[in-house]
Amino acid sequence: MVNIEIFSTSVHNNVTDCRILNIMTKQQIDITTLRREYTQGGLSRSNLTAEPMELFALWLKQACTAQLPDATAMCVASVDDTGQPYQRLVLLKHFDNQGMVFYTNLSSRKAKQLTHNPRISLHFPWHALERQVMVLGKVQQLSVSEVITYFHNRPRDSQISAWVSRQSSRISARSVLENKFLKLKQKFLQGPVPLPSFWGGYRVSIDAMEFWQGGKYRLHDRFIYQRAKSSWRIDRLSP
Ligand SMILES: Cc1cc2nc3c(=O)[nH]c(=O)nc-3n(C[C@H](O)[C@H](O)[C@H](O)COP(=O)(O)O)c2cc1C
Repeated sequence: MVNIEIFSTSVHNNVTDCRILNIMTKQQIDITTLRREYTQGGLSRSNLTAEPMELFALWLKQACTAQLPDATAMCVASVDDTGQPYQRLVLLKHFDNQGMVFYTNLSSRKAKQLTHNPRISLHFPWHALERQVMVLGKVQQLSVSEVITYFHNRPRDSQISAWVSRQSSRISARSVLENKFLKLKQKFLQGPVPLPSFWGGYRVSIDAMEFWQGGKYRLHDRFIYQRAKSSWRIDRLSP
């Protein structure tokens, strides 16, 4: 039996001495007993659309209508130059038949990995609907003209924080960020905040998309669309 020990801790206030943890309480949860049945419905060939993006659009709409928190959040997997995969959540900001778009810092760890290897995998975990969607594809960096419109639609403070964060680089303390934020807020007091040269986005062109709907007795439904010359090959996969 696997038991997980959950410690609730209070962290010592001195940031240079993170090793000192003051253990306040200790609880045990037996995660082997955590399970539920998936009963919300199935997915059959008759539910599939010719284009995977049409089905994706329907499922995303249903996830938004069901008010799932961060329904547009997707896990992005990329690999470093040794083949080590990394994952992180980012927000999907646009999609159409050309692909799926997200925005990020172009000096970040993910950006470096995607420059080296543009292959990417995306994952949408819509637990409450007993669904997931997995995407395979390749990224292309967006042009400045594509990025600038979105950038200026962000709240002004988010535009400034894009200038503040050299994403994925080491920093000594949170105060470094906060001080820089205040300085840049003063600097960009008037007029539009310029687009940082190190901030942009990617379009993921889709090679494959897999739809998963939870089923009774763990007999889930899975369909994968894989790009074939001018259409999509669609296969049902065993759960
Ligand atoms: C719900 C959620 C949404 C996020 N959205 C974004 C995003 O749209 N763009 C982004 O660069 N980081 C976003 N992040 C932060 C990333 O998960 C990640 O920490 C950051 O991009 C650095 O990743 P990297 O060091 O692997 O490049 C989000 C995090 C969460 C939890």
